[in-house]
Amino acid sequence: MYLGPNLGLTILKTRHSIRKYKDDPIEEKIIKNALECAHLAPTARNEQPWLFGVVKEKETLEKIADLADHGRFIKDAPICFAVFGKRDAEYYLEDCSAATVQLILGLWAYGVGSCWVAGEKKEYAEAVRELLDVPEEYTLVSLLPAGYPMDVKIADKKILDDIVFEEKYSQE
Ligand SMILES: Cc1cc2nc3c(=O)[nH]c(=O)nc-3n(C[C@H](O)[C@H](O)[C@H](O)COP(=O)(O)O)c2cc1C
Repeated sequence: MYLGPNLGLTILKTRHSIRKYKDDPIEEKIIKNALECAHLAPTARNEQPWLFGVVKEKETLEKIADLADHGRFIKDAPICFAVFGKRDAEYYLEDCSAATVQLILGLWAYGVGSCWVAGEKKEYAEAVRELLDVPEEYTLVSLLPAGYPMDVKIADKKILDDIVFEEKYSQE
């Protein structure tokens, strides 16, 4: 089913990491849609080696924010998703990264901004897993605080022609 390029491209091209949120809660319908988008992501051998945590309790958001050194703003988000990958799945990192992007875009389709906060390579990954009572066979891949944007910062991007090559790479 091809819907034409306009809506999809608009969602993709207008996404920015949002770190300041309005207090308004996110509607359940939007949360469910975003989770559906995440779980439809491609995975190696279709293993779907993941768990998606949904955290809305203020106290838990504050505890996650205290742990995540570059995610202090999680404490002011109305919601934070946590994507966990099954350690014994060979491609869990790629799979859960794909799911994280789909979660981001599924939220943004409704105007809900979010910001990927690192998980997998961080010392606090285990502490977040324990905080959320997630079994040891899983590891945190990403945290995704989300909310209606209060402030949008546009990040500079590299020039496309500088990073694309055709056929074979050459220095010229
Ligand atoms: C793997 C990964 C980890 C990230 N970790 C953090 C983080 O810990 N804290 C944060 O504020 N932003 C984090 N970001 C968001 C990036 O800073 C952001 O995507 C980048 O600056 C480009 O901005 P844009 O998303 O608006 O295009 C992370 C993004 C990725 C993909």
